[in-house]
Amino acid sequence: MKHLLSASDLTRDDAVSLLDTAAELASVTDRAVKKLPTLRGRTVANLFFEDSTRTRLSFEAAAKRLSADVITFTAKGSSVSKGETLKDTALTLEAMGAQVIVLRHHASGAAQRLAQSGWIEASVINAGDGTHEHPTQALLDAYTLRQHLREGAGDLEGLSVVIVGDILHSRVARSNVALLTTLGARVTLVAPPTLVPVGVQTWPCEVSFDLDEALVGADAVMMLRVQTERMTAAYFPSVHEYSRRYGLDSARAARMPDHAVVLHPGPMNRGMEITAEVADGPRALIVDQVANGVSVRMAVLYHVLSSQEGAP
Ligand code: CP
Repeated sequence: MKHLLSASDLTRDDAVSLLDTAAELASVTDRAVKKLPTLRGRTVANLFFEDSTRTRLSFEAAAKRLSADVITFTAKGSSVSKGETLKDTALTLEAMGAQVIVLRHHASGAAQRLAQSGWIEASVINAGDGTHEHPTQALLDAYTLRQHLREGAGDLEGLSVVIVGDILHSRVARSNVALLTTLGARVTLVAPPTLVPVGVQTWPCEVSFDLDEALVGADAVMMLRVQTERMTAAYFPSVHEYSRRYGLDSARAARMPDHAVVLHPGPMNRGMEITAEVADGPRALIVDQVANGVSVRMAVLYHVLSSQEGAP
């Protein structure tokens, strides 16, 4: 695997293999010295044109735990303000020795463009491109579901996962529909009609507008952030109305089976798509998702760098 651009590029075997590697690497986190020498001498560049807390920091932690060198670029405070392009920025990082570029960009397709342009030799990992894809988020979500609902092994065959909220603007939803269905889960999307993307009928999932109904029998519910920064119109009448119909509170969560779990990719709008009581409650795996993000990104860096010529 030279690049990781889309969750759709992963076969079931690819995905299970990445999750298995992540599970092996997770044991490093429990050690007093949280380091393996695996990627010593390799350089990972984080190239972030959009804000991030979890993804950027966990890629940085993942690279460091594998003893790679890390260069971090954030667009704010950089020469992007002087008009420097993605191509020239990537060439600059490669000239500093980067063998992997972890790219977050506001433009859908940016990671694919960088990987397939021929501008650079480095591998590209998509850390979120516009409203298109966020494959490492889907991998860490699958890892978390497997850890809690499948005792940490195999695929997700037969699990019922409900993804709720701002599907229209969500790269997390797109990557999760692709990956979770590849792993055998059944996915139902729930959203206001205005936040359902055109063409969703071609996606391998069901669509519902009734959250109460969808939650009955769900093994997991994934609440999505309402992405007001990407909204150019009024997609729902008010925050109160959105929460009433599409928010997850304790009463609604009680409709799910006892074993069912709650995910959120973060950052959360507490009180809008999820109440604090649910976010901090016993079903919530939101902190586990963040912790698992480090192990999963270690596995992705390891697989990508191992595919390169001259890899150790
Ligand atoms: N889930 C996620 O991508 O979070 P960040 O935007 O903080 O990286």
